[in-house]
Amino acid sequence: MSQTTLETPTDLLRFQLRTAMTMEDDSLAALAELEQAAKSPEVKKMFRHHADETKEQIENLRKVFAVLEIPESTAASPSTKGISKQAEGLIARSAPALRDQVTLSAALGNEHYEISAYQSLILATRAQGAADAVALLTDNLDQETHTSEELAKKLEELIG
Ligand SMILES: [Fe+2]
Repeated sequence: MSQTTLETPTDLLRFQLRTAMTMEDDSLAALAELEQAAKSPEVKKMFRHHADETKEQIENLRKVFAVLEIPESTAASPSTKGISKQAEGLIARSAPALRDQVTLSAALGNEHYEISAYQSLILATRAQGAADAVALLTDNLDQETHTSEELAKKLEELIG
């Protein structure tokens, strides 16, 4: 298996952007599964709402590729696959009464990973002086941060 060596900060940024595309695709798939596994209509609705936002985030990433004049493509994102796999296992072994808690926790973990990915991407993009790309990525980061706060608040209500 041949792998491209990343030599420059630009190479790294391009690669991280491709990984972020897969991350958001994985998030969209995970949110559908979490919605199905959750019990309360309110929690299901939160996942649906964030799935809609995730579609906007994917559009924003597409625009970032265009602004940076990078051909749009994806790269492997084992981290998000792992978060989903862990959630799947926990859902499978949890009683129905725990499903809202389990799904909210899983979503929270995913959000924090996404937040870290956008923080790195924003710093790298800012270093390149690409203000339009920074603005688009910041929109995504703000949505992820807001979602993580909502999830944490709901989890707190639930656990008491
Ligand atoms: Fe996202």
